[in-house]
Amino acid sequence: MILLNGNTIHLQGKTLSYVMIRNHEEDLLNYHFGAKIPDMDYSSDPDVNKESFPFFRAPAEHPNLSSFPQEYPAYGRAEQRHPAFQLVNALGNSITALKYKSCRVLEGQAAEIPGMPAVFSGGKADTLEITLSDDAIGLTVLLSYVVYDEYDIIARSAALINDAQKPIVLRFAYSCCVDFPVHDYDLIHFCGDWGMERGLQRTRLHKGMTTEIADNTGRGSRWNNPFVMIARPETDEDHGEVFGFNLVYSGNHSTVVQCDHNSHLRVMQGVSPTSFRWELQPGELYHTPQSVICYSARGMGELSREYHRFYKNHLMRSKWVNRQRPILVNSWEGAYFTFTEETLLQLAKTSKDAGIELFVLDDGWFGKRDDAKSSLGDWTVHPAKFPNGLASFAEKLNAMGMLFGLWFEPEMVSPDSELYRAHPDWVVRVPQIEPIQYRFQYVLDLSRDDVCEYVIDAVSKILGSVNIAYVKWDMNRIVCDAPFEGYHHRYALGYYRIMKALTEAFPEILFEGCCSGGGRFDPGVLAYMPQIWTSDNTDAVSRLKIQYATSMCYPLSAMGAHVSAVPNHQTGRITSLKARGDIAYAGMFGFELDLTKMTEEEKAEVAQQAAYAKHIQPLIRDGDLYRLRSPFETNECIWEVVSPEKDHVFMMACRVLTVIMRSRYFDPKVRFRGLDPDAVYEDTVTGLRYSGSLLMNRGITLSYEFKDFATITMELRKV
Ligand code: DGJ
Repeated sequence: MILLNGNTIHLQGKTLSYVMIRNHEEDLLNYHFGAKIPDMDYSSDPDVNKESFPFFRAPAEHPNLSSFPQEYPAYGRAEQRHPAFQLVNALGNSITALKYKSCRVLEGQAAEIPGMPAVFSGGKADTLEITLSDDAIGLTVLLSYVVYDEYDIIARSAALINDAQKPIVLRFAYSCCVDFPVHDYDLIHFCGDWGMERGLQRTRLHKGMTTEIADNTGRGSRWNNPFVMIARPETDEDHGEVFGFNLVYSGNHSTVVQCDHNSHLRVMQGVSPTSFRWELQPGELYHTPQSVICYSARGMGELSREYHRFYKNHLMRSKWVNRQRPILVNSWEGAYFTFTEETLLQLAKTSKDAGIELFVLDDGWFGKRDDAKSSLGDWTVHPAKFPNGLASFAEKLNAMGMLFGLWFEPEMVSPDSELYRAHPDWVVRVPQIEPIQYRFQYVLDLSRDDVCEYVIDAVSKILGSVNIAYVKWDMNRIVCDAPFEGYHHRYALGYYRIMKALTEAFPEILFEGCCSGGGRFDPGVLAYMPQIWTSDNTDAVSRLKIQYATSMCYPLSAMGAHVSAVPNHQTGRITSLKARGDIAYAGMFGFELDLTKMTEEEKAEVAQQAAYAKHIQPLIRDGDLYRLRSPFETNECIWEVVSPEKDHVFMMACRVLTVIMRSRYFDPKVRFRGLDPDAVYEDTVTGLRYSGSLLMNRGITLSYEFKDFATITMELRKV
């Protein structure tokens, strides 16, 4: 709801209030972000008119804005903290002074952002658009807020317009700025690398400290995810205030957290300023991506559930969001590059016999690709591996009753490829030095229209001629050797253009994003693809942390989770097939191993897992997640999913290392959450019955097997 009251602009969500005021100088100030407060005009509150050292100020001077919380702080005059944007105007200086001009409400609409993904309304959103301007230099800034009555979410973005007669150069422009009146918060962010994505970090903020959480690798979120939380020191899963910031963007991003000298806290999120530059010709606009801000007064668990529900209903566009996803087998860890049509058909047949529904052919099917050294960009079938062509292979799978899925790495080209030989100028590079190769490959220059068109055309040809049900879209290197400042943003826009074109042209295909595992796990990708490969680390124990941390913002329905072989290829660890399956139930389930090498007993267990994953998927996909014990803080990882009707429950518990055997009385207990306290729930395996209130208030004992990596699952139905 958007409420305008005198000089106060008040956005209300389900339980949140986000309040701005205009002061007597037409500065736009932030007044409150947190739990709901009444609708009234707060602009005469003496609190917001009380600046530091007012007695040193002549009446005509501008207020010292550094003492006020601001909505979109400008650089260089009355504000000396970190600005939300900075530019160089036609006179060659950066001084900017923004004044409030007007605002308008777009009822029932969510503002769209040209060329970039954004949240959608679904008839449930209203948008507030505020116009600020600096008439002296000819700059207009539009601040946009998409707000929903049913969510504690606000999606913020900004657009900067050059109204001057000469060009303006943007140095950076954040999507949002939120100023909090106090600084005693923790910053929680998600830092990682290949095979160890989204390591959860929690840091106390201190006065005088400015921190930037950024990723400048050109591909989104390998080192830092564009999701941060600002939490009260006492906030945990179930209690306390927490604010989330998540950028709908898959390029270089930055979140700046500044605790100023007066103990105020400023949080800004947007495209990274590193090597950014954007020239605006007269009349041109620059759009920032959207930052999805979320508030919870009931801990991080509620914040996560809010993001999950919101993304499934108002960000993810694919038809597959609520559809049953096929249980898949992926050829990568089972075969890598070494396969023929026959060996794959054997794998497919064995997988089909185990109840697996989709066969995904990973890397190595095209050009002459027998290792990582060639053929990226040549999206034509490898003739020696598939002498009868890909369509014929797909037909054989379909005849077996299996769906066919295919891997691409559309943004890349190998130096040893027909594409590179024909278009050596299509790679991202500068003229004076050879571009760096990573994994023997170059990045295609997606800032060029002709390159984007080639990619769309080449991938479309395969998707249009072969019966393909699923696409895995990989991306295996950093984007470096950028030819000009601001290049990475142009690259991101090209990426979105291709992804939009392909996902819209093939709406029935289930797309899964991937980036050397989970290196590009962000809401920008989720807007187009309903699931993302969570990590190349398929070791079940490593996955406990990776999946747990990923779920802090992203829904389980978005996380690809596979059972792989042991010893695990990434860690060498040996875990039971049961543990591997139980832990993979936390996502969209599949297998990634050579089933033909398994014993009959193992194959039977795989069949049970495939059937169970299929059965439990609607709950995992559409239900509400409760994290009950953290693998970052304890020797266990326990989570539970409850259906929206609270009548169906699944719980998974893993004790990482065994502990000394004692009596059952000492065994750990788990207390469930989110159940109907007055209902009776029945364990679907043992038939034992428990009241909802007992499960939540006393808890039940978990009797783990006496071994490392022991797991327990439990499914309950309301009686
Ligand atoms: C990296 C991905 O994360 C893997 O799953 C696999 O597809 C390989 N690339 C193939 O090259």
